[in-house]
Amino acid sequence: MTDFSRRRLLARFAAGIGTAWLAPSIARARRTAPQLPPAPAHRDPPGDDRFTRPLRIPSADGLLAQVRLAQAIELTARVDVLPVFSGRASGVWNYAGSIDGHAVANPLLIARRGELLDVTLVNRLGQDTTIHWHGLRVDEANDGSGLHPVQHGQDYRYHFRVDNRAGLYWYHAHPHFHTGEQVHNGLAGLLLVEDEEELALRRTLELPWGQRDIPLLIADKQLGSRNGLAYKAGADDWIGNRVLVNWVPEPCFDVDPALYRFRLANLSNARMFHPAFVARGKALPFWLIGTDGGLLDKPVRVDDCYLAPAQRLDVLVDFGGLADGERVLLRSLAYDPMENDAAATGEDPMLEHPGAAPMGAELDLMELRVGKGPRVRARLPAALARLDPVAAGGAATRKFRVRISDSGRWMINDWNFLIDGHAPAFGVRRGEREVWEFSNEFRSMPHPLHVHGFQFRVIERRKSPKQIVSRQVDRSKGLTAQDLGLLDTVVVWPGETVRIAIDFAQPFRGKQTYMLHCHNLEHEDQGMMVAFTVDD
Ligand code: C2O
Ligand code: CU
Ligand code: CU
Repeated sequence: MTDFSRRRLLARFAAGIGTAWLAPSIARARRTAPQLPPAPAHRDPPGDDRFTRPLRIPSADGLLAQVRLAQAIELTARVDVLPVFSGRASGVWNYAGSIDGHAVANPLLIARRGELLDVTLVNRLGQDTTIHWHGLRVDEANDGSGLHPVQHGQDYRYHFRVDNRAGLYWYHAHPHFHTGEQVHNGLAGLLLVEDEEELALRRTLELPWGQRDIPLLIADKQLGSRNGLAYKAGADDWIGNRVLVNWVPEPCFDVDPALYRFRLANLSNARMFHPAFVARGKALPFWLIGTDGGLLDKPVRVDDCYLAPAQRLDVLVDFGGLADGERVLLRSLAYDPMENDAAATGEDPMLEHPGAAPMGAELDLMELRVGKGPRVRARLPAALARLDPVAAGGAATRKFRVRISDSGRWMINDWNFLIDGHAPAFGVRRGEREVWEFSNEFRSMPHPLHVHGFQFRVIERRKSPKQIVSRQVDRSKGLTAQDLGLLDTVVVWPGETVRIAIDFAQPFRGKQTYMLHCHNLEHEDQGMMVAFTVDD
């Protein structure tokens, strides 16, 4: 078995193995100097000419084509050569389909709540794969975790009733130990769920989908030689040297001086973003209206948010105060990445991803250009949707300690999937409510922890770092705006303790096995995952 241990990787660097692509002098400098050498340029030339390609909007064809799930569809996991960057087309691992005569790739699937999802996965990838329906209520057979791999040449029918609140969910490959590679190389797409509340809100907001209501699939990729997507199995925290929004590098989007709705989804392997809308050099305040599991009860005004891998944010931004010709950057602001485990060992993750901006560095994702269009005064509803208060009274607490072992493995309590495999670490009674308490050690890094099959609520954050404390909207409980919504992925920062409430009520009888894992996909592949059961 490949030894994925984080420290082991460091030992390899120290010995100078695995750095063959570096100029010898740089390799030597890195070995002797603990400081990072100046990062190589990770951007196209600065200035407005960075953003030359129009943003991709969901259409009927190609990447991000939108497909209604009212019909049964077939998606084939395979590699296609698609134009993504300028110059040579790239090999993209994708879920390809032919829908009503249109060739689609990683389509944006749209379902009404209550509708059947009927998707047959055909595997032509040359290795095991799956489709995991991230954030959806499903039974084990439809969860698409590594427990049910689909082999090359085989197919598998995912078939279940969509029973989630309206919101932006997503789907991706999830085979044991190869999730990072398959998602990085492209096997992921968005899934939008609609319900009555959502449709009512749309009537109030009058922001037509695809015009003023736009999904933004954000993912960084490591671009290697000849425009190939480069991934190194066994690597750590795979951050990339290019950021794509809707599969377009550095896109631009023309907006009217009016209100817009953006649904941001971070489909990166490991990079956390810190999105803000920057106009005239300052963050333009916006409203958070939804999170992973759908709408908040009311809009919350913020200047920025954190968006960890797998998380989604539903936001309203008003460009109405800006003049014709002004430009707004969707920027990921700099933040402290708190890679406290690495600082202790002098690790340099850059060695693995040439040209990538370090974790936490400022990154411009997209440019919005304000035009002359009609100036529309934004009307914001006071109430968005019904969201029950957090109910945790009387629930038993289950504690999880998140840490790195002495041998450099990421652990959840004493569990690591490489060692423990499928054996469920614990069992939950169907219909129970539980409080899960995650405590991250200080000598650690931020971990976006994800639970399959269930949305949850954050009850409380304690001992949060400064950059979180300064963004709390509920001081007594330590909650940020994002913590007010339903989540399926929650970041636990170094030193922090986060308590969440999960309701395990669901219609699926018998023993169902799910996963709890870190959604830094390299951590997951390195075993930062446990199986648990929900049983009657
Ligand atoms: Cu989106 Cu188990 O993952
Ligand atoms: Cu999931
Ligand atoms: Cu992690």
